[in-house]
Order: sequence, then structure tokens, then C-alpha cells
Amino acid sequence: MTKTVALITGASSGMGRAAAIQFHNAGYTVYAGARHVEPMADLAEQGIHTLKLDVTDSASNKAFVDAALENEGRIDLLINNAGYGSMGALEDVDLAEAKRQFDVNVFGAMSLVQLVLPTMRAQHSGKIMNVSSIGGQMYGPLSGWYYGSKHALEALSDSLRLEVKDFGIDVIIIEPGGTKTNWAKIAIDHMLAATPKDSPYRHMVEVQSNMGIYFTATADDIAHLMFKAATTRNPKTRYQLTWGDRAIVIAARKLSYKMFDRIQLRSMKMAERDLLNGRQNETETN
Ligand SMILES: NC(=O)c1ccc[n+]([C@@H]2O[C@H](COP(=O)([O-])OP(=O)(O)OC[C@H]3O[C@@H](n4cnc5c(N)ncnc54)[C@H](OP(=O)(O)O)[C@@H]3O)[C@@H](O)[C@H]2O)c1
Repeated sequence: MTKTVALITGASSGMGRAAAIQFHNAGYTVYAGARHVEPMADLAEQGIHTLKLDVTDSASNKAFVDAALENEGRIDLLINNAGYGSMGALEDVDLAEAKRQFDVNVFGAMSLVQLVLPTMRAQHSGKIMNVSSIGGQMYGPLSGWYYGSKHALEALSDSLRLEVKDFGIDVIIIEPGGTKTNWAKIAIDHMLAATPKDSPYRHMVEVQSNMGIYFTATADDIAHLMFKAATTRNPKTRYQLTWGDRAIVIAARKLSYKMFDRIQLRSMKMAERDLLNGRQNETETN
């Protein structure tokens, strides 16, 4: 029987790790990559191929794809999951850091896309799944660089879908909402580090940090969603997990920009009131 070969990036934690286990348990031959290999030791014990991978390094990406091709001779699924959130005011975030985030979230993903496409075209089959965010269809204060990277990933995915359709390749976007992984702590740590104590945005950052992230999912939930999207005959272009996530995306697309601005500003005001009252919303920051 022909193997079904999946490449998953960012598999050392969170959704990527959960996806590696989910696809492996379903019988896929999984190649799992991340910069830190040690946290994937238990995945390797289960029979998942774990490799050191830094998606910002083109040689590392090539070695990752070549390893799968040399061993298996085919690639059926690429899940571009590696990514992180570097939040903060557009004025405060250092441009080098903003570029680094785009290197991981956008150029890293597209580098892997370029590497797997010749094989998928030759097979006349394959699926490329790009993990965006509900932020890939909306905007908000202090999230510009991160949401900008996800908007870019979505626009590239949409163009790609049209370019590769006739080669039998599907392009699928996954849009998680708040999901309980390491992501929120990394995002908030970046935001605090990017914002000097005397920054005009410091108060806004403290309000936002106090808001935390409202978690609506676990990494396993998103891995399950990825699996559903990967195994559906005629996949949708975009997948959100919850009605709440879907409602946010619909609101961002359908409401006027002025109206969406008002909603965002009102929620900042409510969070500010909570901060002044010494309350944290019913949220966690991990
Ligand atoms: N959690 C959320 O609320 C949420 C919501 C919407 C979208 N997302 C998106 O979902 C995806 C997965 O995030 P997560 O929530 O599972 O966060 P996570 O637990 O922090 O996992 C992120 C993964 O990306 C890897 N990674 C980071 N930089 C990398 C690089 N340069 N090369 C290779 N791998 C790299 C990390 O591994 P190493 O550090 O070992 O490299 C880690 O395995 C991300 O694209 C994120 O933007 C998350």
C-alpha cells in the first residue's frame, strides 16, 4: 500500500506537535521539524521522523524536504505550522524583529512550498496547509506585525491555490483562534520586551497584557481540524474551529471598517476599566 507522507513544521510544541501525533496515529508517515529536537524525543520513539529545522534557513528547509523524498519518494501533505507572534506597537517593534517574524511566518512557509511543489506537480496530487490565524482576516491594535504576516500568508495561499489547482494540488488555510499553547506567552513576552517603560504605548500594552488571550481551543482540537481538512475530498479554502472564531472573521469582513474600529476601541476601553479595577478578564496568559 502506498504511504501517505506528511511534512509538519513547528512540531516541537503546540498544534504542530499535536498534529504530528494525530497524523501518525492515523497511519501517515510523518516528518516533523522544529529548531528544538529534544522536545520531540517522544515523537521519535513513536516512529515519527523528527528533524532539526529552522524555516528561516533555506539549507535547513531543503534538508528537511530531501530527507522525506530520499526515504519515501513522495510528499502528500505539507503543513506550514511553524510561527510565532511578535506583538507590540508598530512604532515600537524593531524592524529587524518585524522582518524576523515575516521570515518565519511568511517566507519560511513559502520556501517550503517552493521545495515541495515540483514533487507534488509530478505526482499530480498533494495538499499544502498553511496555518494562519483568525488574525489573517482582521486587524487590531498592537498586533499589526503579526496579523500583517498572517494576512500576507493568506494572500499568498489564495494566489497559490489558483496557480496549482490544475496540477491536482489543494491549498488550505487553517485559522485558529485563541488556542492553549506556548504561543500566548511568547507573544506577550515579545510585546513587553518591545515596549520601553516610557513608550507612549506602554499603557495600551499593559491593558492588552492584562486582557490576556481567551482560549477557545486546545492544540488537539486544532490538530483534529487539520486532519479533517486534510482528509476531506473537496476541502474548503479556510477552516475555523469554533462559531466564535467564525463570527469574528465574518464581522471583520462584513462590517464597515469604522464599525470594526469602534468594536476594537470599545473592547480596549473595557479592558482598561478591568485593569484599573485590578481585575483580569476570565482569561489566562497561558
Ligand atoms: N495558539 C494560538 O492562540 C494561535 C492562534 C492563531 C494562530 N496560531 C498559529 O498557530 C501556529 C502554531 O502555533 P502554536 O500555537 O502551536 O505555538 P507554539 O506552541 O509556540 O508552537 C510554535 C512552533 O513553531 C516552531 N518554530 C518557531 N520558529 C521556528 C523556526 N524558525 N523554524 C522552525 N520552527 C519554528 C516552534 O519550535 P522551535 O521553537 O523548536 O523551533 C514550535 O514548535 C503558529 O503559526 C501560530 O502563529 C496560534
